[in-house]
Amino acid sequence: MTDDTAARSDRTSSDRTSSEPSSDETWNEDQPIEERGSNRSQRPGSAAFLEFVTSGWAPRPPSQVTRAAAADHTAARRSALSAVFPGRRLVVPAGTFKVRSNDTDYRFRPHSGFAHLTGLGVEQEPDAVLVLHPVEDGAGDDGSAHHAVLYMRPLAGRDTSEFFSDSRYGEFWVGARPTLEDLETLTGIATAHIDELRDAVAKDVGDGGVQVLVVPDVDAGVEAVIDEIRRQEAERGAQEQTDRDEHLVEALSELRLVKDAYEVEQMRLAVATTIEGFEKVVRALPAAQQHARGERVVEGTFVGHARQEGNAVGYETIAASGDHATTLHWIDNDGQVRAGELLLLDAGVEVDSLYTADVTRTLPIDGTFTEVQRRVYQAVLDAADAAFAVAVPGARFRDVHDAAMEVIAARLDEWGLLPVTAEESLLPENQHHRRWMVHGTSHHLGIDVHDCAQARAELYLDGVLEPGMVFTIEPGLYFKSDDLRVPEEYRGIGVRIEDDVLVTPDGNENLSAALPRDPDAVEAWMAGLLGR
Ligand code: GLY
Ligand code: MN
Ligand code: MN
Repeated sequence: MTDDTAARSDRTSSDRTSSEPSSDETWNEDQPIEERGSNRSQRPGSAAFLEFVTSGWAPRPPSQVTRAAAADHTAARRSALSAVFPGRRLVVPAGTFKVRSNDTDYRFRPHSGFAHLTGLGVEQEPDAVLVLHPVEDGAGDDGSAHHAVLYMRPLAGRDTSEFFSDSRYGEFWVGARPTLEDLETLTGIATAHIDELRDAVAKDVGDGGVQVLVVPDVDAGVEAVIDEIRRQEAERGAQEQTDRDEHLVEALSELRLVKDAYEVEQMRLAVATTIEGFEKVVRALPAAQQHARGERVVEGTFVGHARQEGNAVGYETIAASGDHATTLHWIDNDGQVRAGELLLLDAGVEVDSLYTADVTRTLPIDGTFTEVQRRVYQAVLDAADAAFAVAVPGARFRDVHDAAMEVIAARLDEWGLLPVTAEESLLPENQHHRRWMVHGTSHHLGIDVHDCAQARAELYLDGVLEPGMVFTIEPGLYFKSDDLRVPEEYRGIGVRIEDDVLVTPDGNENLSAALPRDPDAVEAWMAGLLGR
């Protein structure tokens, strides 16, 4: 990786004080710790160099940016939010870079609420802030009660030092970023320079005036600006704000419970791309079995596919072979992949719009289930099918889990594993069957793999299913190798089957149905891919 230390600190060798030996041999107090990074390299800082590096560039070609498909849908989302918060100023930051180590950042990913309201996706737009300014009802965007402005740091001119010296934003380092005009064209949202944010947020605040709500824990710099505005208002003795930032967090989460047509299309794309990734993994199974860390071959195959065809994986891939499959979130993925065992692959491609699939298949590594593996697999499949049968409009979200649990408890009872009857196990105070499936059956899915997580319980767990909701159905059974409550033949078997379901007006659609689930179909599909 290119050393950007000099670029970040903007120091030159001529700036430096020469080091005198310090009284403490181990401590050079002439060179403060925060400046040590520039030990690695320096860039010339003379006026002559500045003139030379910022001149002699051809004019930029005309912008190629066009309106994004998402822009036709985000206005309605902002209007829905506007209706919840009349008279409030709503501040939704994209967030900023997160340090991975020292001077190296993680790849930027915008906050999900920001992505949803702007339609911006992959690496767009670090440090931008969406503000919905309250206006008279009906006088706002699309007849709403708010006017949206996207504050951002636009592309700097090539005559600035940012152009060549700023490793986070400079064109030399990260490529040409959008201009204000580009971002406005792309999103259909009015744009303004980030330097205008403070005054715009502070306008008409306090004393019965505008209340400002900000999504907390996304951008500390933006929160500090708003804290300062609130402090100044408090010092003036202004009436205390009555609404809480958490209300905005909750509303942003609930806004995503029902997906619009664009979101459903993106989910279909994410699932289709994920299915291709599963096919590549099956083809890689012979190679995985030859490698000491075969699970990494599986993970690497899927992650490589996700980067090639989408943005990334939507969550860390679980590539769990044998007993590892009984660890629900096994992401070490450093084990062997052995014939005769099962591979539990829980993986999802996140597409460029940031929507992700979340799919699990449990595959016989050599292509054929053993009798006991098939017995456990079929029980989990039956539980999934029971859950699908009730996942229809008007049902409650929790009914989906309950339907799966009835099957799981019944099978465990048939196998003699429960110390009580299935009916008794299903009583809320018992739940013995949950020893072998401690996780829930479903979660909403979208921009976040666990989408809508801050929604109120009455709209989530106790909520009623509506067309447009997308969630997982993912029952499982996990018998650990040291589980003395099950016969030996079950030990070391972990099975999860996870599909992504769209609630439709007359039932539901399994978005991941193209990936075989029935055990015979799984074996036939694997045989086809492996040329057997
Ligand atoms: N992959 C995480 C989950 O299934 O919820
Ligand atoms: Mn899931
Ligand atoms: Mn999953």
